[in-house]
Amino acid sequence: MKITAIAPSNIALIKYWGKKDEKLRLPTNGSISMNLSNLLTTTTVEFNRSFKQDEVLINEGKSMKEVDRVIKHIDVIRKLAKISTRVKVISKNNFPIGTGLSSSASGFAALTVAATKAIGLNLSEKELTIIARQGSGSACRSIPDGFVEWVEGDTNDTSYAVSLFPHNYWNLIDVVVIVSQEKKDISSTEGQKITASSLFFKERLNHMNEKIKLCKQFLKTKNFSALGELIENEALEMHAIMMTSKPPLLYWLPSTLSLIKMIKSWRANGLKVYFTINTGQDIHLIIEEKNRLKLIALLEKKPIIKKIIVNQPAQGTRVIKNHLF
Ligand code: PMV
Repeated sequence: MKITAIAPSNIALIKYWGKKDEKLRLPTNGSISMNLSNLLTTTTVEFNRSFKQDEVLINEGKSMKEVDRVIKHIDVIRKLAKISTRVKVISKNNFPIGTGLSSSASGFAALTVAATKAIGLNLSEKELTIIARQGSGSACRSIPDGFVEWVEGDTNDTSYAVSLFPHNYWNLIDVVVIVSQEKKDISSTEGQKITASSLFFKERLNHMNEKIKLCKQFLKTKNFSALGELIENEALEMHAIMMTSKPPLLYWLPSTLSLIKMIKSWRANGLKVYFTINTGQDIHLIIEEKNRLKLIALLEKKPIIKKIIVNQPAQGTRVIKNHLF
């Protein structure tokens, strides 16, 4: 059967940075995210006995490095279904990959939903998140609706993602600011292997449960300023771990730092806007809907900004009828 799924990327408000099981991608702490309406991956999968070999095409062949990882994930699904049939996978993103916009999250979420259905498995949402997690940790959070928690867990079956609030719960806006399309030199998968080499990593783990609790509380009470301060501090803390890892991971460009400074000055002038950053140079600005146009007008005046992508909270991964082949 041929199945197509569309998946949103997500932005972590509380980050996943560090694994306690490399193969199963069990995280050293839980995390919380919001799905993004305009960073999308569409993937069509077909298993067919007439195929002689596996065929994977990502972004029209521009992402060769990812092909092996996709086949590995398909093998996990084939093993589960006890089927060895060859597969054809075509996948497309509507946004740049490898610059820190979490394309592996939307990519492995879309692949998991399309491939499990195409092979004939009928899985619950929780089971789908468990499988997606093994392809890319953050992918598990792109499957449920809206605002999502990835429960840390200690085993394959207890580390899964679940929706905290639906996408229409709170119209927070995430403006992605692309400062460069330059690809990062070290992937998150590689970077995550050395988290424990930072002297501060243990200290971080000591307060992660408290951060998760606070984040949930600020989402529940829609306390925007408190949430903004928490996520900004969280992003800086994760980058402090990255910068102090051995070897150090420096994902920012000078334009990233310039923008951070601008955000601080806009806030000092009364605009409530907060930032967060993943593994890369691009910044996510979090703002309430009522201030969106004001922020965009400010951003449009800045020549260091190459492109912006405005996102609302989004549904999770879903099956669609328009196939890519
Ligand atoms: O899922 P990965 O291996 O691409 O790691 C994602 C790591 C961050 O984006 C930096 C944080 C997160 O929780 O999304």
